[in-house]
Amino acid sequence: MEEVIVGAVDGAHFPPWHIAMAAPLSPEQRSVFQERAGRPFPADEIAAARDELDQLADILEGEGIRVRRPEPRDHSQSYGAPGWSSTGLYDAMPRDLLLVVGDDVIEAPMAWRSRYHAVSAYRPLLKEYFRKGARWTSPPKPELPDELYVTGWTDQPEGEPFRSVITEFEPTFDAADFIRCGRDIFVQRSHVTNAMGIEWVRRHLGCDYQVHEVQLADDHPMHIDASLMPLAPGKLLIHPDRVPEVPKIFKDWEVRVAPRPVIPDGHPLYMTSKWINMNVLMIDEDRMLVEAEDEPMRRLAEGWGITAIPCPFRSFNTFGGSFHCATVDVRRRGSLDSYF
Ligand code: ARG
Repeated sequence: MEEVIVGAVDGAHFPPWHIAMAAPLSPEQRSVFQERAGRPFPADEIAAARDELDQLADILEGEGIRVRRPEPRDHSQSYGAPGWSSTGLYDAMPRDLLLVVGDDVIEAPMAWRSRYHAVSAYRPLLKEYFRKGARWTSPPKPELPDELYVTGWTDQPEGEPFRSVITEFEPTFDAADFIRCGRDIFVQRSHVTNAMGIEWVRRHLGCDYQVHEVQLADDHPMHIDASLMPLAPGKLLIHPDRVPEVPKIFKDWEVRVAPRPVIPDGHPLYMTSKWINMNVLMIDEDRMLVEAEDEPMRRLAEGWGITAIPCPFRSFNTFGGSFHCATVDVRRRGSLDSYF
């Protein structure tokens, strides 16, 4: 990795309540979002997470990587489009918004109204990358009308097939539902990524890349990077329950199951499960960022020939992600290869 963007939590707000947010959250998380709609995230939690992000940035710089940061926005400001209005969420998770494929930086057409302008904090960087020669792509701007959302959506009963809260009204996706692996890119349908969104990416990338849709068993799917994590050529980390069948293409890879999370009960997690423990970041094939208190994950890395670099990140986890979500690798050294 040569250059990476690390997110920011300043200005984080709970957005107005909307059905699209209910679907990926647990019942307890839904209540918190409903109660706190329109209010800022607690100042002490923002401060603690900010401090951890700064430590992450320092560690990455210490490893010889150029670290870039967004210009945080005020997410209490209201905006809208015909038929709806909203305020924002945060600038914490660049992984959700930007899909970098080769020299192409793709802005995700996100399904949450509260993330409609999420890329704004990153636009200064995108303009700089464009000036320096990157391609810069924005898919058809979604309209996010009521027709995009399933009226009266409810959780699917256990054991029943996935029922998304979004329809096929128009293409939407979050970049974090995709995970890249050289010429192969894996994607899941979720409560923010629909079939049109996946098809848009497939056609846009053309024949140099294979986009594989994988079937996972996540009961609240939003973002693939706490379920299926290719770590390095030949090394796949999976969630113990969400990958009922490892996609055949990985048949020559070694597959290991993520250790149980050690995040204590009662630690606030507003929009993720504890399995964010497997949301690690690979600097290269040999170095992995691991949460400082996550002994089991550190052992997994070292038992697999990977050097674990500890960084405290528990307070950041509260906002819904870990190292992979909080970053976007903009430039990596090496050539475009196929690993299958
Ligand atoms: N949906 C995952 C879980 O609850 C968390 C994924 C977070 N990823 C992200 N890029 N924000 O376990």
